Amino acid sequence: MQNVNWNPKSWRDRIALQQPVYKNLKALEEVEKELSKYPPLVFAGEARSLKAHLAKVSKGKAFLLQGGDCAESFTDFNAVRIRDLFKVILQMAVVLTYAGACPIVKVGRLAGQFAKPRSSDTETIGGVTLPSYRGDIINGMEFSAEAREANPKRILQAYHQSAATLNLIRAFAQGGLADLNQVQKWNLDFVDGAQSERFSDMASKITQALAFMQACGITAENTPTLHETEFFTSHEALLLNYEEALTRKDHLTGDWYDCSAHMLWIGERTRNLEGAHLEFLRGVGNPLGVKIGPNATREDILGICDILNPHNEAGRLNLIVRMGANVILDKLPKLLESVKSEKREIVWSIDPMHGNTTKASSGYKTRSFDSILNEVKAFFEIHRSVGTYAGGVHLEMTGEDVTECVGGMQAITEENLGCNYNTQCDPRLNASQAVELSFLIADVLKNRNL
Ligand code: PEP
Ligand code: CO
Repeated sequence: MQNVNWNPKSWRDRIALQQPVYKNLKALEEVEKELSKYPPLVFAGEARSLKAHLAKVSKGKAFLLQGGDCAESFTDFNAVRIRDLFKVILQMAVVLTYAGACPIVKVGRLAGQFAKPRSSDTETIGGVTLPSYRGDIINGMEFSAEAREANPKRILQAYHQSAATLNLIRAFAQGGLADLNQVQKWNLDFVDGAQSERFSDMASKITQALAFMQACGITAENTPTLHETEFFTSHEALLLNYEEALTRKDHLTGDWYDCSAHMLWIGERTRNLEGAHLEFLRGVGNPLGVKIGPNATREDILGICDILNPHNEAGRLNLIVRMGANVILDKLPKLLESVKSEKREIVWSIDPMHGNTTKASSGYKTRSFDSILNEVKAFFEIHRSVGTYAGGVHLEMTGEDVTECVGGMQAITEENLGCNYNTQCDPRLNASQAVELSFLIADVLKNRNL
């Protein structure tokens, strides 16, 4: 279904918030031209397959697990980091499937999650004011005038890194690592003792079940889902020059798709109804997300649905609530009630990270494991009482052993944050915290499905 008065450039007539200022527009144009000749990173058919999975999520028949870095980095780019993130997501998914008794749709925040919205356009240190860091696709993190200047060449580097990341992810998903018979091997060495033991116990039960199934004739050879997995990519569609250049017409359907990722989302700061970001994404066929912060109104929600999902298709639109553990109790019930009678097809998920960011006394940005869990629990409880589905979680996490969020069974304290604080932007759950959280969510999910 083609959108009226839309083309891949129509966003350029609207105000685009949170965009860098490129000094050399000619260089930017050359990069855009070059990128528009490069191969797509994903295919339209894959995006449609994700949409079909999300349609099941919207009916309460599956659950969405979306997670990855706050921001990917050029300097930290290596195979081990990608593998470990992939493994933790697989671990979490198997915990949720087994203990939560629900199929899991796996979507990584990766292979394109490079551009960051910032609360201020500039940063001042020691009397020097420079443009803020906006993610590696735009400028460098180092506090120097040279690094902070927006450089269009970075767009091509982000593309190449995304292509290499996706190549490895596809190999992992289909080449044996995701085989359920390997479930014991998904445990990472440094995952904290208690989580590791709990996971191993569960993995042994799965291995026994697989042996039983094999004896009954259900094997990896005749049941491909046992030895491979579907894994999708997503990122915030913030830098529209990048998204436009990777937007292609699908020859099968004649529809446009943003082939930079399977799913794209719009951030809390760029979801204004008249803005360039909604204008751009309304024209592509991918499943879309929109972050919903504490100030969102009924009119915002209905406006977003009208613009991004005018035909009210199931699986097309994911609203990602991020209000904070306390605020959600006050705001979300009324909001859900106020749109319920409109019968809009919405996949509701919870991002329990961005509303729970605090500053530790040591100066580090952090988030507490308890607040994260509390917001997730509140989200489930609110949906249960309104009679809608809590459809998924959206997390900032890593497969590494970082110390960025406080709490959890590892009991990371504010004093320990400096041990391995490594994020490019916001604090992420480490592998142990992510696995711990998935066991806790599995309990709530099981109750939802009873
Ligand atoms: C993010 O997901 O990294 C982000 C910036 O979120 P939000 O738009 O919800 O603040
Ligand atoms: Co973030």
